[in-house]
Amino acid sequence: MTAHIIDGKALAEELRQGFKSRVETLTAKGHKPGLVVILVGEDPASQVYVKNKVNGCLAIGMHSEKITYDAAVDQETVLKKIAELNADPAIHGILVQLPLPKHFDEEKVLEAISADKDVDGFHAENVGALAQGNPRFIPCTPYGVMKMFEQGKVDLNGKEAVVIGRSNIVGKPMALLLINAGATVTVCNSRTRDLKFHTSRADIVVAAVGKPKFVTGDMIKPGAVVIDVGINRLQDGPDAGKLCGDVDYAGCLEVAGQITPVPGGVGPMTITMLLANTIEAAERKAGLR
Ligand code: GUN
Repeated sequence: MTAHIIDGKALAEELRQGFKSRVETLTAKGHKPGLVVILVGEDPASQVYVKNKVNGCLAIGMHSEKITYDAAVDQETVLKKIAELNADPAIHGILVQLPLPKHFDEEKVLEAISADKDVDGFHAENVGALAQGNPRFIPCTPYGVMKMFEQGKVDLNGKEAVVIGRSNIVGKPMALLLINAGATVTVCNSRTRDLKFHTSRADIVVAAVGKPKFVTGDMIKPGAVVIDVGINRLQDGPDAGKLCGDVDYAGCLEVAGQITPVPGGVGPMTITMLLANTIEAAERKAGLR
């Protein structure tokens, strides 16, 4: 059996088309949605992500701007800018691209963003709301994965789900969303003893561990839904330089019931849900929700 491929690129495009009329309505009422993305340093991957975030906004008629700082900038300068943006009525979403340079206190920076403008969903208030099952902003990558489950008509209620990865950005919020949806959730990581014991029982596997081809076909239960959040660049071998997920796609394709590719899977959904969160923030401000 070959798995059904959940096409994140197509779903992302469909959703973004649907956002345009909401942006138009907001703009007509004087609430054009606006996102500011702050980038500190010159990490090449972060530069690409930030460019795509800003361009994604502009393509559907939103306002967006990037603010960049040298890696050596002091934290106070960034905190001052965040305070300004918190008070700016034209800005509905503020995102600080992670990771930050080592001299930053990441938590302090994220907590400085007003919870109402925290379109990443990383502020403690928003994390707490998600944990209580009453989310306000859902972190973009796991939010995108939930939309992909919807698209693939995956019923999560009562299912065994394994999340591999325990980051604040993906693993933990993903586990909370699955719990809220009624799944039985096991959270593993790269050091889990006998990972296969867990994954081979799972109806749903979400791999967010940052290790190329970590999940292989023999670890998957036939018919399982396999979601690949990884974006790794292969260092050597014949495919050096190519992108690859945390899942051995070719090996799992023959075993899984549904699977997401890399590229073209979860990646395009992350930015799409950032747009969704920013539009939602603007709609709240405009009294439309
Ligand atoms: N770095 C990697 N993923 C993300 C994300 O979703 N948001 C932010 N702010 N930084 C990231």
